[in-house]
Amino acid sequence: MTEPVDPTTTPAWTRLTALYESLQPDLRGWFAGDQSRAKSLTFQAGDLYVDLSKNLINSDILSALVDLADQVGLADRRDAMLAGEHINVTEDRAVLHTALRSPQRSSLVVDGVDVIPEVHSVLDKVYAFANKVRSGEWVGVTGKPIATVVNIGIGGSDLGPVMVYEALQPYVKPGLKARFISNIDPTDVAEKTKDLDPETTLFIVASKTFTTLETLTNARLARTWLLDRLRGAGAIEEGDEAAKAAVAKHFVAVSTALDKVAEFGIDPDNAFGFWDWVGGRYSVDSAIGTSVAVTIGPENFADFLAGFHAIDRHFAETEFSSNVPALMGLLNVWYANFFKAATHAVLPYAQYLHRFPAYLQQLTMESNGKRVRYDGSPVTTETGEVFWGEPGTNGQHAFYQLIHQGTQKIPADFIAVANPAHPLVDGDNDVHELFLANFFAQTAALAFGKTADEVRAEGTPDAIVPARVFPGNRPTTSIMAPALTPSVVGQLIALYEHITFTEGVVWGIDSFDQWGVELGKQLALQIHPAVAGDDEALGKQDSSTQSLINYYRAQRK
Ligand code: F6P
Repeated sequence: MTEPVDPTTTPAWTRLTALYESLQPDLRGWFAGDQSRAKSLTFQAGDLYVDLSKNLINSDILSALVDLADQVGLADRRDAMLAGEHINVTEDRAVLHTALRSPQRSSLVVDGVDVIPEVHSVLDKVYAFANKVRSGEWVGVTGKPIATVVNIGIGGSDLGPVMVYEALQPYVKPGLKARFISNIDPTDVAEKTKDLDPETTLFIVASKTFTTLETLTNARLARTWLLDRLRGAGAIEEGDEAAKAAVAKHFVAVSTALDKVAEFGIDPDNAFGFWDWVGGRYSVDSAIGTSVAVTIGPENFADFLAGFHAIDRHFAETEFSSNVPALMGLLNVWYANFFKAATHAVLPYAQYLHRFPAYLQQLTMESNGKRVRYDGSPVTTETGEVFWGEPGTNGQHAFYQLIHQGTQKIPADFIAVANPAHPLVDGDNDVHELFLANFFAQTAALAFGKTADEVRAEGTPDAIVPARVFPGNRPTTSIMAPALTPSVVGQLIALYEHITFTEGVVWGIDSFDQWGVELGKQLALQIHPAVAGDDEALGKQDSSTQSLINYYRAQRK
């Protein structure tokens, strides 16, 4: 493994520093002076039409960013990832989510094994299971077909499936629904099961490691709920055998640790495997997506995977000067490291994508929230960005004020599709057109703003003019697609996966480990006895923690 290149020592970084220092952002002037700006800065990747022209870049900056990619070895790192090298060095693992969507005819030998037949054999098993549930062939212990699949998982074993399930609602088979239980807050399991019929409910316990406290606790709660309800209704007998038969019909699992699945009491025949070279936050296209495959069906799931693959190929084969994920990743570096933008908004103008920002938070922040490089040395510049967002137009009436007129620079990605799932009209208006008018208006307002003269010309009193000025030059990227199909959702996810990768390579970090989540987990286990009444354990805590736990103990009825 080659050492990470310090990006700040490259000639491209020196050039970018000079370009930044002399830059006078002027999107109005740049567009007025170059009629071809939009055309030359718009790129196609798969079905995604991506307009970068409202970013604070010119051709010199763009070419220096592409040089930066070359000088930090982005192509070599990308190729190493795609070839299955162990680029996740702190866990000594290959990083092969791209293999999950490779066509059956391809081949990829990793650590001596061709992983593609394995991927397709698990996919076949998932599809066969999905078909059985969908057709009613898979029945619960009392012989009724399944109406609700409940995914129990957290982090990557939840955020991807729930986001995609929500995004692809129009593709969900009528009469079949999914629920998602993730939080160890007992409210989650209680609320998500309270109106379910145990006889028609199937739980999918999704956990890469099958050791995650939240998931295993929730899975046990769900098992108790199932058995209590079935027994209470007289649907099954008392005793272990009846319980085993019920669990076999109402629980399946997805994990890399099939031995632990069996220990939990789920028949390994009802378990779908994956591999340690799939990171949790990169796993919705593995068997972790089983709840999605069941609800939208294998054919749609295959289209979803094909969408990922189209962007994988684009990332692998397109020169960086028109490689959309690479360019968007480099732009994020430009804003994070030169403009010191700490946050990045993602604003889908598609209600079905309402969980996309939350999904991206794990993808980007668990991947790139790192302070050392993959050789253990400290990073040399800011890393990571806080990703956040809400669907438009809701966000417009909440936080856009700060993006338009606040003191922080917040690069924002706007996402929209041309064809709505519900083409409703309000009188003479196509409502999707009203919606898209907002999408187009916001990026124009952010880019071009409103000058004091323009405000004054509207008759605004002088004292109020400053408050009504929009400075403009607020950078945005617009991403459009024909419609929110399974393929397009796969393409969007792969786009952001490779954006995240590109940034990680520039910063020289391991974007595939997540050690930062471990300490809190360990401490929670250590503190739990104190919460549960052990005074000796309480005495070992710091004074703030002690007083908080004492408050809890005093209040708890
Ligand atoms: O807490 C971090 C994490 O390890 C994530 O990376 C992962 O997606 C999540 O926990 C769930 O892990 P698992 O799928 O092993 O239950």
